[in-house]
Amino acid sequence: MSDIAKRNAALEALNLVEEGMTLGLGTGSTAAIFVDELGKKVKEGFDVVCVATSEATDAQARSLDIPMADLDTAPAIHLTVDGADEFDPELRLVKGGGAALLREKIIADSSDVMVVITDASKQVKQLGAFPLPVEVNPFGMALTKARVEETLEILGMNGIHVNVRLNQDGTPLLTDGGHHILDLHCKAIPDADMLGAVLDQIPGVVEHGLFLDIADAVIVGTETGTETISRED
Ligand code: A5P
Repeated sequence: MSDIAKRNAALEALNLVEEGMTLGLGTGSTAAIFVDELGKKVKEGFDVVCVATSEATDAQARSLDIPMADLDTAPAIHLTVDGADEFDPELRLVKGGGAALLREKIIADSSDVMVVITDASKQVKQLGAFPLPVEVNPFGMALTKARVEETLEILGMNGIHVNVRLNQDGTPLLTDGGHHILDLHCKAIPDADMLGAVLDQIPGVVEHGLFLDIADAVIVGTETGTETISRED
C-alpha cells in the first residue's frame, strides 16, 4: 500500500469533516495520515472535537493540539474515519491488525457514520486471508484459546492455526485495554455472520475483528485519486 494512495484516501475523508463535528479517530498508518491532515486544519482554526481509538492515536492527536474529548462525556460521534485490514463487497471488514479492535469497534459502532480509508490491496471477495484478530481476557487465556479452536472445528473450519500475538521479546502483546490478541489464520471465512456470532458467545472473548454491519463507505485510495464505495451502491 503506497503512501500516496493512503494520503489520497485520507484527504478525501477530510472533505467529509464539517465544522463542529465530533470525530472518531482510527488507528494505523492510514488513519495516522488523516490525523496529521486534520491537525493542519485545526491549526488554521477549524473547530472539531475528537475521540481516539487507541492510546497511540490519542497521543498523536494531542501532539497536534487537536481537541480531545472524554468518550464518556463526549457528544454523539458524527463521523469515524479508520483503516481496515480487509473489506469485502458488502463493506464487511476485518480489523485489529494494529491491536486496537476493541476501542475501534466501540467507537465505530457508536458513530452516525463510519468511513474506512484504505487502498485496493485490502479489497477481497471473501474475508479471512488476513488473520482474524480476537481480543481475549488474559484470565484463562489457554482455555479461551481452546474454546475458540473447538468452535472453529464445529463450524467446519478445520486445521486453523490460532496464535497468541507476541511482542518482539516473545511475551504476549497487551492491548490498550490490558487484553491479549489471538490471531485466527482462517485463510477464508465462509460465513462471517456465523463466526462473529459464535465468537461473541465464548467467555473470555472480549471482542473480535469482524466489523460486519458498521462501515457506511470505503474510500479506496489510488496513486491518482480515490474511488468511494458506499453501502447504498
Ligand atoms: C488497527 O487495529 C487496525 O484495525 C487498522 O485500522 C488496520 O490495521 C489498518 O492499518 P493500516 O492503515 O496501517 O493498513
